[in-house]
Amino acid sequence: MYILAFETSCDETSVAVIENGKSILSNLVESQVKIHNKTGGIVPEVAAREHLKCISQLTNKSLEIAKLQLEDIDCIASTMGPGLPGALIVGFSFARSMSYSLSKPFIPVDHIEGHIAANWLEDQSPELPAVALVVSGGHTELILVKENLTFERLGGTRDDAAGEAFDKVSRMLDAGYPGGPAISKLASEATSMNLKFPRAWLRNTNDFSFSGLKTAVLNYIKNEPNSSAQEIAWAFQDSVVDVLTKKTIDAAQAIDAKSIIIAGGVAANKDLRNNFLQKSIIPVHIPAPALCTDNAAMIGAAAFNHIDQAILPESIIDIYSTMTRGELFLDKK
Ligand code: KG4
Ligand code: ZN
Repeated sequence: MYILAFETSCDETSVAVIENGKSILSNLVESQVKIHNKTGGIVPEVAAREHLKCISQLTNKSLEIAKLQLEDIDCIASTMGPGLPGALIVGFSFARSMSYSLSKPFIPVDHIEGHIAANWLEDQSPELPAVALVVSGGHTELILVKENLTFERLGGTRDDAAGEAFDKVSRMLDAGYPGGPAISKLASEATSMNLKFPRAWLRNTNDFSFSGLKTAVLNYIKNEPNSSAQEIAWAFQDSVVDVLTKKTIDAAQAIDAKSIIIAGGVAANKDLRNNFLQKSIIPVHIPAPALCTDNAAMIGAAAFNHIDQAILPESIIDIYSTMTRGELFLDKK
C-alpha cells in the first residue's frame, strides 16, 4: 500500500510517500526557517503563503523520487491539527482535493499522533502499552499509547513547551533559531559543569513547567553578564533533560509500560536521547533525528496505523480539538 502524506502545520512543507507503513520511499521537507529568521519568529500568514508556493512542486518531486505516478497511490493523508490554522488549511485542502479528484481514500491525521507514529517507521515498532513523551516547539505531553493504538493524555506542560524554552533561551544567548540545535551545540562546548538551574518537579503529577527555569536563566544572564554562554546552555539543557527523563520513566514504571516512546523536535537532542538510553530499564524508542522534527513520513505512518487498526482518528484530536474533526474516507476498507 502506497500512502502519499502531507504535513504543513507550522513552518515546514513536507510531502512523503510511504510503502506499507514502514518504508519511506520519499520524505521531502522544505523549511521556511530562513524566511522567519528575518522577523525573529513565525508570521502565520507568511507561513501559509510559503506552503502554497511549494506544495505542488514538492508533491511532484516526492512522487518522482518514489518512482511512482499519482495513479499508483492508494491513499492520501494530511495533518489536520493542531498547528497554525492558515498553514494547516493549505496542506489539508490540497490533500483533500487531490483525494477527491482521484477518488482515493483520505485520512486526516493528528500532528501529535504523527510524531508518535514516527517510531513505527523504525525497524522495531514499540511494544504496547507505551508511555510517549512528545516534546516539540508547541507541545510537551505525556501520552499513554494503549494496545489498540488509542491514546490517553497523562499530563503535560502547564506553561511553555520544552522546545519553546530552548528557543527562548537561545534568543537570550543570541545563539540563533531554532534554538534546540543551537543550545545543544553550545552546551557540548562547555568546559565547566558546575552551574545548576532549578528543576520544577511538580511531584505526584505527570505535568511539567519550564517558565520558572526560563526566568532563572534570564536572571542569571542579567546578574552575571560575563558568564559563559556555553556553561549556561549546558546547565539549562541539563535541567530540561533531567526533568523530562525522570518524570517519563516514573510515569512508564507506574503503569507497567512495555516501552517508552520519545517524539517531536526536542527528541533530536543528543543529551536527551543518551540520558533516556542510560537511565531507563524499560526499552526506549526514539526516531532518527530527521524523523523527530516535522515531516510528512510520520503522518503517513500514523495514517497506515489507522488503516491497519481500522480506528478513527479521534482520540488525540478529542483532547486538543483545535480544528474541527475531519472526515475519514476509507472506501477501500
Ligand atoms: O516537532 P517540531 O519540528 O515542530 C513542532 O511541532 O513544534 O519541533 C520543533 C522544536 C523547536 O522548538 C526546536 O528548537 C526543537 O524542536 N529542537 C530541538 C533540537 N532540534 C529541534 N530541541 C533540542 N535539541 C535539538 N537538537
Ligand atoms: Zn511537530
